[in-house]
Amino acid sequence: MKTTLTINGEPREIEAEARVTLLDALRHEIGLTGTKKGCDHGQCGACTVIVDGRRINSCLTLLCTQEGAEVVTVEGLGEPGRLSALQEAFLAQDGFQCGYCTPGQICSATAMIEEAAKGWPSWVSESLEGEAVLSREEISERMSGNLCRCACYPNIVDAIAKVAEARMAEAAE
Ligand code: FES
Ligand code: FES
Repeated sequence: MKTTLTINGEPREIEAEARVTLLDALRHEIGLTGTKKGCDHGQCGACTVIVDGRRINSCLTLLCTQEGAEVVTVEGLGEPGRLSALQEAFLAQDGFQCGYCTPGQICSATAMIEEAAKGWPSWVSESLEGEAVLSREEISERMSGNLCRCACYPNIVDAIAKVAEARMAEAAE
């Protein structure tokens, strides 16, 4: 089957069997190996990519269902010399050890911060001044689909909190 979609801003046409997942297509057909395969069962979040602005598990998504989709992988968020704010923050806060979960964490957090900035779901906390904020607890809850076997969770939350604070303040302006 042929699927036409956009990956990191580039139009792509991929010929693959109907059973091929978006994860396998990214890694094996396109050569974007930043997206990782952990469990291949929707349980670890290592394969998280952003599709049409929403984070999804690419291991649970068939390529052929993504006709016309706009896919962003960790490679599309930034590259050496031009890292995204979250990629910089993960480096600055030591948000990883082995790094296997990191692309998924960063894709997930990138979309999660935008979800929160738009006010959904509606349980974004409020500061004493009534401004929308993302607390550490809320970040952990919203990121609970992304597991880290190295247990870098405190540093991952530090990195996300730093970027989320700036983005939420911007959204409030
Ligand atoms: Fe997709 Fe684990 S590889 S959730
Ligand atoms: Fe090793 Fe998260 S840094 S799994």
